[in-house]
Amino acid sequence: MSIQRTAVIGSGLMGAGIAEVLAKSGLDVIVREINDEASAAGRARIEKSLARAVEKGKLDAQARDEAMGRLRFTTDIGELADRQLVIEAASENEDIKKSIFAELDKVVTDPDAILASNTSSMPIIRFAQSTSRPERVLGVHFFNPAPVQPLVEIVSSVLTADSVRDSVTEFVAEVLGKNPIQAQDRPGFIVNALLIPYLCSAIRMLEAGFATKEDIDAGMVGGCAHPMGPIKLADMVGLDTCLYAAESIYRETGDPAAKPPVLLSRMVDGGLLGVKSGRGFYEY
Ligand code: CAA
Repeated sequence: MSIQRTAVIGSGLMGAGIAEVLAKSGLDVIVREINDEASAAGRARIEKSLARAVEKGKLDAQARDEAMGRLRFTTDIGELADRQLVIEAASENEDIKKSIFAELDKVVTDPDAILASNTSSMPIIRFAQSTSRPERVLGVHFFNPAPVQPLVEIVSSVLTADSVRDSVTEFVAEVLGKNPIQAQDRPGFIVNALLIPYLCSAIRMLEAGFATKEDIDAGMVGGCAHPMGPIKLADMVGLDTCLYAAESIYRETGDPAAKPPVLLSRMVDGGLLGVKSGRGFYEY
């Protein structure tokens, strides 16, 4: 199947980045948001990132305009009827995601369509079981910022058809130009199973007064050649997303390293979500 008609559910940090990647790859993209305000914010996010790509010499003005021309925003999920690939990138709430999959199952008419989730750590099988076509559901997990990071985790549940896994893997590599890796449907898949305990450890270090945030970050940038330190990275990922991923991994594995630090919960309660809210551990 040649995938041309795509959709993304949600245009937050990840949804906007994924929609941008799809549009830049020449695909027709519908972005579904919950209201016009959220759609406008998603559009602005994509415009800003495309402007930055032009500024950085990664894209010319014509390619930018063509990419924007391939994007359409809607609040009506019914408009996704003819889509061949839908990537859900709503907030990390299992019930919300399950109900989105149940709705997609009703509205997407093509029996060959693929329904994917960009969840960072939740069990794909639960979303698959919210549909009547679990063999056509899988995880397609991008990394932030999606237009820049080359990796995509392809996550097969115990019911995902091999043919679906293979065609999405080929699509990610050949059409999107990303590097796919195969992950099992286990908490945190590959990357977040390693990353989330690391970010939680850094926050615990800060919470315990072990070192300043600047020194923790400088340590990993200067000592291990990471492009950014863990405290800054947590802010960039979004502290809410870090918390939900940690809760989800800890709930299933009981791994103490993934136990959400109290400071992280308090900051999320206080609306300090990192870059996206203007303030997290740092101010933006
Ligand atoms: N579009 C296209 N390319 C862009 C771009 C854009 N909007 N913005 C930047 N770039 C390109 C730049 O041109 C540059 O490319 P070259 O290396 O070829 O020159 C590259 O991206 C880096 O850009 P900059 O040097 O200008 O650095 P920056 O400050 O703009 O961005 C960063 C830096 C890419 C964010 C970098 O710090 C980084 O990689 N940080 C780590 C990010 C990371 O770990 N992400 C994973 C988070 S985990 C996750 O997402 C999963 C989850 O489920 C929680």
